[in-house]
Amino acid sequence: MRLRSRFNLWLGAVLALGVAAAGTVTYGLLHRDARDQVVQTASLLMAAAEATRSYTTEFIKPHLDQRLDVEFLPQTVPAFAATETIIALRKQFPEFTYKEAVLNPTNPRDRTSDWEADIVNIFRADTARTQIVGERSQGPMQALYFAKPIKISNPTCLTCHSTAATAPASMIKLYGEANGFGWKQDEIIGAQIVTVPLSFADKAADRTFAILLGAFVLLALLALGTGNLLLGKTGPSAAR
Ligand code: HEC
Repeated sequence: MRLRSRFNLWLGAVLALGVAAAGTVTYGLLHRDARDQVVQTASLLMAAAEATRSYTTEFIKPHLDQRLDVEFLPQTVPAFAATETIIALRKQFPEFTYKEAVLNPTNPRDRTSDWEADIVNIFRADTARTQIVGERSQGPMQALYFAKPIKISNPTCLTCHSTAATAPASMIKLYGEANGFGWKQDEIIGAQIVTVPLSFADKAADRTFAILLGAFVLLALLALGTGNLLLGKTGPSAAR
């Protein structure tokens, strides 16, 4: 075989292997980073919901509690405040969701769906578990979910969530006696679940990957071309 053919064959093979290896590593890294970023966004949304909860408990509830005898104001309920805040946020970011998913909720909109109930039951079976992160398809979109257990650790919760008899009359008037009772001290009754779209980050990773792969291939072709140019200069007799 002529030197040039051998050179092209071997360098071509080595470069192809190199591009394949670099491509595989880069693809993995880009998609891992994309997922990390989505987890970070999900944590931020969860933190926003939690901030709304504590704002309500600290700054809103004390001022409105005296109205409890006259009328029940859902605005004083941290779960309600967090849910409504994220509903408002979804006007700009409809692909993001937040739910205080509860097996036996006071407000029916908080009832767990099938997959949410599975998550709550994992937390109930393994009480040491503090979070679950996973992926699921949400319509045509792939989404990442981030869940934290809701545990009844404060006995004051039971005033409104143990029996209809202990709950404020104004609350019963608004919500009825059927739902959201029978919760127990230290029981995990539900989970806060955030979902965040994965597809945007994945698409961005794919775009960056396509550009990098193009650059790798270009580099390989340049190396091959330069090699051939140098071989050409040494002349056929010297190159043989
Ligand atoms: C004054 C009564 C009252 C107290 C005290 C109270 N809640 Fe609630 N809670 C409610 C009402 C009413 C709702 C339904 C609000 C709505 O319409 O979204 C609710 C909703 C919830 C929800 C959402 C699921 C559902 O049932 O609709 C969670 C979770 C929750 N409460 C947890 C707690 C925890 C934890 C505590 C103690 C730190 C607590 N609650 C204390 C009245 C109360």
